[in-house]
Amino acid sequence: MRKIGVLTSGGDSPGMNAAIMSIARSASLYGMPLVGIKRGYNGLLRKSTNLRDDVMEMVLDTVLDIADQPGTYLRTARCREFLDPVWQAVAVKTLHDLEIDGLVVIGGDGSFQGAMRLCELGIPCIGIPGTIDNDLAYTEMTLGFETAVQVCTEAVRSIRATSRSHDRPAVIEVMGRHCGDIALKTACATGAEIVVVPEVPWSVEEVAARLNKQIAKGNTRASIVVAEGCWESMAPFDMYTFLTSRGKQCFEGEPISAPRFASILKRMCGMAEVRATVIGYTQRGAEPVAKDSAFAFEAGNLAVRLLRDGISNQVIGVHQGKVFYMPIEKALQAKREFRRDLYDLVNTL
Ligand code: ADP
Ligand code: F6P
Repeated sequence: MRKIGVLTSGGDSPGMNAAIMSIARSASLYGMPLVGIKRGYNGLLRKSTNLRDDVMEMVLDTVLDIADQPGTYLRTARCREFLDPVWQAVAVKTLHDLEIDGLVVIGGDGSFQGAMRLCELGIPCIGIPGTIDNDLAYTEMTLGFETAVQVCTEAVRSIRATSRSHDRPAVIEVMGRHCGDIALKTACATGAEIVVVPEVPWSVEEVAARLNKQIAKGNTRASIVVAEGCWESMAPFDMYTFLTSRGKQCFEGEPISAPRFASILKRMCGMAEVRATVIGYTQRGAEPVAKDSAFAFEAGNLAVRLLRDGISNQVIGVHQGKVFYMPIEKALQAKREFRRDLYDLVNTL
């Protein structure tokens, strides 16, 4: 194998640039030209009139400077068309035209599905897990998760300080899509009193009861860390009737959100205020912590070595602290195990 390509796909995650840097240095060391594909699978679909808008030459000097930077130098995107075999064939033709013999895909499970399709169509691919969500069961680490938890931990610590001053509970929403790992680890790291995640069914009343217990103990500034996906596992609750009957404006059919949840808890627990903070994209756009960068460094090199040695259709991960690889298909079949023991600990301690 000679020329290889690299792309980042799905949501960006801290550490993607560190992986790109490692891939560029490794490719250079092994004498393999490297092409950067822009905006995930979009860069292979010939949507631009000028090919330079879709692919980029990876100049080692430039790439060396990006390793510590958040975001992704190659840009990223979701690409609905790529689900369609017709567009997948276009991607394969583009790769052939560019004389790219193998591809490193940095992304989450969706991006790995795309890589698997390309492998089936004869393009050797290696996946590097890049997502803050930590929703890939086969690996103990995904690029960006540790950074996201660090950002959330710092935010929750600050919020707890002001909550303490004001005797005011706080609802803090973190990302993670359908996965509660960022919420759970942040709650453990900050000593938050309550955590709510999509993996465990819950009800508003049950959280209010937990909060009331804290208030009765004199803890008037408890933190409730909620995962953004937690609303999907919430027991039905008539928010409209509850809020409007207590003089709070609410629109019929309005979906629940962290601010609305705070509003409900304020009224259920008789507090003067319960404030909400949505941490949002600061979790994705942060400079990677050392653990994410170090994993990216090792994974990037392994990905290039695998392609160089003719090994493909694999994803890289961490098992028992060590970087390893396994077939994409098997990796995607692994079942996630949520740390219910930790969840119970946070909510009962
Ligand atoms: P992530 O990779 O972070 O899980 P997505 O699920 O949004 O993010 O997937 C990223 C991209 O991967 C999609 O926009 C699409 O281009 C590609 N992809 C996802 N699922 C498939 C699939 N089943 N077949 C082919 N490509 C896919
Ligand atoms: O998958 C990473 C992630 O940040 C999720 O935690 C979140 O649900 C989603 O991406 C947000 O995506 P977008 O950038 O499209 O708002």
